[in-house]
Amino acid sequence: MALSDKCREFNASIDSLKAANQFFYLRQFDPAASPVVTMDGRKLIMLGSNNYLGLATHPRVVEATVRALEEYGTGACSSRVLTGTTSLHNRLERKLAEFKGMEAAVVFSTGFMTMMGTISAMTEEGDVVLSDEFNHASIVEGCRLTGAEVKVYKHNDMASLEEGLAECDASSDKLIVTDGVFSMKGTLGNLPGIKKLADRFGASIMIDDAHGTGTIGATGRGTLEYFDMEGQIDFVCGTFSKSLGTIGGFTASTREVVSYLKLRSRPFIFSASPTPSSMATVLACLEVIDEEPELIKKLGKNTDFLREGLSEAGFSLEPTVTPIIPILVGDEEKTFLMAGGLEDEGVIVNPVVSPAVPKEGSLIRVSMMASLENADLQKALDKFKLVGGRLGLI
Ligand SMILES: Cc1ncc(COP(=O)(O)O)c(C=O)c1O
Repeated sequence: MALSDKCREFNASIDSLKAANQFFYLRQFDPAASPVVTMDGRKLIMLGSNNYLGLATHPRVVEATVRALEEYGTGACSSRVLTGTTSLHNRLERKLAEFKGMEAAVVFSTGFMTMMGTISAMTEEGDVVLSDEFNHASIVEGCRLTGAEVKVYKHNDMASLEEGLAECDASSDKLIVTDGVFSMKGTLGNLPGIKKLADRFGASIMIDDAHGTGTIGATGRGTLEYFDMEGQIDFVCGTFSKSLGTIGGFTASTREVVSYLKLRSRPFIFSASPTPSSMATVLACLEVIDEEPELIKKLGKNTDFLREGLSEAGFSLEPTVTPIIPILVGDEEKTFLMAGGLEDEGVIVNPVVSPAVPKEGSLIRVSMMASLENADLQKALDKFKLVGGRLGLI
């Protein structure tokens, strides 16, 4: 069989999904991270972007980015280790460490590389990584690359984690990895429970706070601020591709760990430095988060409005404290029909089906933005009622 034969077979299966209106991927939106986007010449309300605080289009952030582009050009054109580090990269690393209450931080070119590159550099043969079954693919990839033994524990299940820890050789170094906010359902990792077990068994903890950063905690510092646990976790990671308006990611930890990662993590060493303008974007986002706290409040208000409206209408929602609203449909075909029906009515949402969640847990994932107007949210709620009613979901 030629290597490309599998592509033909795969593409044929995608074509049949498209024919059944069950393919909602790789579409074109202009601009992608705005409250209202254009798709195929139509205007639609965007409830599927992770631009939670609306900072990707915030005038102050855009201006800072343009200024950096003019001053630094479009790329650093080298690895960070060689000639790709600018004062913007170093300034941002200091700022992120301060923002997360840690000694130091290192910036990677994507969030995916952050998780993959931190886990694989920090652990090796003889160590054990304990990973939540619903952790993001970037963590799974880090687990595939490490020489350590990997134990997957049941989602947020402390008895399962305890069992895994108890099985470990007492002398092995152990690392527990969890999402701070689980991306599909918006639920929180059980950080207090994990910390108790980590202390008991002498394990380190790594949190991927991709979706918590900027969205939860009184000042948007994330899941650890929410749980009042800042400074109690060994590795605090995150991405710039959600609340922080661009692409890139970071790991914050001790000075020792950060210096080590900068010379041992292969995705950091062997990939080009993230663009200086992206560093300026994140610096500006962090300033706005501190200086315009009303954005976090607006994000909460918008989320509460839609969550309460959907719940009152009779939709089945899992309770969350994040801007991700998971609407349980429980059937894959109906989930696609719901997403398609909403799209026809002018609302974009993400259908989430197996293998991202179990089949009976199929859901519509709404992600809120602070920049959405009340009128658009009311319109979206009306469309949810209309389409949900037609499908017998309410
Ligand atoms: C929890 C989590 N971690 C890591 C990533 C990867 O980040 P990025 O898309 O910025 O590479 C994502 C992105 O979807 C995510 O949701």
